[in-house]
Parts: sequence; C-alpha cells; structure tokens
Amino acid sequence: MKNLVSMKELSIEQIMDILKQAQAFREGEQSKLKQKYTVSNLFFEPSTRTKMSFEMAVRKLHLNVLPFEAGFSSTLKGETLYDTVKVLESIGVDAIVIRHEQNNFFDDLIEKVKPVIINGGDGTGNHPTQSLLDLLTIQQEFGTFEGKEISIVGDIAHSRVARSNADALIKLGAKVNFVCPPEWQAEFDAINYIDEVIESSDVMMMLRVQHERHDGKAYLTTESYHAAYGLTVDREKRMKDSAIIMHPGPFNRDIEIASELIEVDRSRIFKQVENGVFIRMAVIEMILKGRE
Ligand code: CP
Repeated sequence: MKNLVSMKELSIEQIMDILKQAQAFREGEQSKLKQKYTVSNLFFEPSTRTKMSFEMAVRKLHLNVLPFEAGFSSTLKGETLYDTVKVLESIGVDAIVIRHEQNNFFDDLIEKVKPVIINGGDGTGNHPTQSLLDLLTIQQEFGTFEGKEISIVGDIAHSRVARSNADALIKLGAKVNFVCPPEWQAEFDAINYIDEVIESSDVMMMLRVQHERHDGKAYLTTESYHAAYGLTVDREKRMKDSAIIMHPGPFNRDIEIASELIEVDRSRIFKQVENGVFIRMAVIEMILKGRE
C-alpha cells in the first residue's frame, strides 16, 4: 500500500492487517518506524474528528505534524491542489492527509507527487479511514463481518461514508441494507422504510443529513424526517438486544438520531472516535514503513 485513497483498492488481507495493527496500538504497542517523518493535514472542508485524530495519531507515532490552514493558504490566491502538494513536497513533507470537496481529487496527485497521499474524505466519494474505524468497531463487537446485518440509514446519496462502507462491508461478507428516502438512494438498491430493518439489524449505522450538500432544497422538515427515517426512542426499543448504534458524526440531534440515544449503552459513537486514532496510526505507519 503506497497511498490510501479508497476502500476499493484494499484486499481483505490488507484490511485485516490494518485492523490488527490498530488493535495492537490500542493495546499499547509502540511505533516501529525508524525515521521521524513529517505529516501535514490539508483540510479544505470542515472537520473535527478526522483532522484531530490524524494529528493525535501522528503525535502518538512520535512523528512531526506540519500545520496547514486552508483558509490562510495560497489556494485562496488561486494555487491549485497539485501545486500546493508540490510545495509541501519541496519543503520536505513525507505524508499528506487531504480532505477536499472534489470527488477523486487524488487522481491528479498519486503517481505524480512524492509524499504519501491519504484521503481524509473526497466530496461524496470516499472516506477510507472512517470506514476502517467503523470496521474495527464492528469487529470488536462481533468478532466477524460474515453474515452480520448492517443497515446504513439516511442521506446515502451525499455520503462518502456509505460508499466506503459499502465497498468494504460487502467485500467482507456482511449483509448491507441501504435505507433512505427514494430521493437519496443514488446508485444504491435501497429500502425506503427503516421499520423493515430495525428488528433484524446487528448494526444501525445512522448517517448525517448533509444539509450543506442539498443546494438549499429542503426535503422533509426536521420532525417529519425524524419520524420517517430517524432512529427514534421507540425504534431503539425494537432493536435486537445485541445490536449496536453507530454514527460517523457529526450527528444532528433529533434529526437522524434521537438526542437521548447518542450515549445509550448500545451506542458505539464515541468508541468509533477512539478507534479513529488507532486506525490512523496503523495506516500512517504501514504506508511509511513500506518506504523504509
Ligand atoms: N466523521 C467525520 O469525518 O467527521 P469530521 O467531519 O468531524 O472529520
């Protein structure tokens, strides 16, 4: 693995190796990198979890973080993403994590630049490290993906998390349900009623309604979306005893998920965030080790 831009390119073996290394880091294993590499996070869309956990991962690996503020960078003067990456390459940055509104932004970079490119989210396309941390969370819970029923519910059309998890979970043998309003099913063969899956699912993975990608078009009111597609307090009571709630965050309380359910016993939402640090450590170390 030279870069990480999507889950499609990872074999089952590579996914399992990343999960194993992340779990080892979680249990206290230390970095085996021989050099003190420099990593920079280029985030052109807002982020709290991904950006902060990449920074934490780099620090835990005892590497350097070179801060980059998109809002104060020369991209505002028209510099392209490619030229920005070439500047960081010339300065001596070894790995670059990029979040960008353009789908497949990485096509213009990989094979053309020296630093490792890690995708921190491209438009509505891919979010591979979110998928990996979701996989680790599911593996910790059930020990396997084979035959587990995972329902991904909500704003599927605009969700890079849904796409990366679809790529990964289907490859790993899970049964994946996509549940959303007909208007948001995009390329997916989706179920339009959450009540069809609530009692059979092992994981209810709720997605954020991405208002910022809706071009100002209101689809349903907050209340009617919550009633029709949300994880309500009443629906949670119908979930299997062993089933868990996941959400990549940030969550819209009382839209896709009832506020009372965010920290309920079966919620793994903040455990997902914890796992993100260890997954990102594993990804950075595995790619950079390949260069030593
Ligand atoms: N899940 C996720 O990508 O969250 P952030 O946008 O806060 O990074």
